[in-house]
Amino acid sequence: MANLGILASGSGSNFQAIAESLENNKLHKISCLICDRKNAYAITRAKNLNIKVYYVSYFNRTKEDAENEINKILVNENCNLIALAGFMRIFSPYFVEKWENKIINIHPSLLPKHPGAHGIEDSYNSGDKELGVTIHYVDKGMDTGPIIYQESFQKGDLSLVEVENSIHALEHKIYPQILIKKLNSIL
Ligand code: GRF
Repeated sequence: MANLGILASGSGSNFQAIAESLENNKLHKISCLICDRKNAYAITRAKNLNIKVYYVSYFNRTKEDAENEINKILVNENCNLIALAGFMRIFSPYFVEKWENKIINIHPSLLPKHPGAHGIEDSYNSGDKELGVTIHYVDKGMDTGPIIYQESFQKGDLSLVEVENSIHALEHKIYPQILIKKLNSIL
């Protein structure tokens, strides 16, 4: 059995999709969710799913200090792999080195196109005919790490809302699958 730590800042729909898949899979476990926003809906989801949740504040302290707290939690919880699921912070090089090749992120565009916080809108407004999702390792840059998997679909005449829904449905399908594969390789 391998242990997955998940970090999220917002709604947590990917966190929930991963949790439900791991529940069915039975082989691996989510050790904990770590959230940097007190009011994130992801916290409510974790409580409903009986998954241990930690709030780590970034306010009035250095990034290194907050990251040290995160690191301690991940070590104490015996995490073998970290999945970012809408975690809206960039790690310091020190943290990335500590967890090299063990932090995975999902991004709602076909990287290297449209990195950053507005991947869906930027893709939609770009004129690209093909849109999609990228799962990648986290390196020291923003959405620049080695790509693990991408899946795309045709934009056609979909509205922005329809594209958002398609992206999220795709994320919820592929992220658990890729994470389970990685966890299997750690076993
Ligand atoms: C997802 O679109 C993910 O690709 C991006 O942040 C969003 C998180 O959504 N990194 P949710 O909090 O999982 O609902």
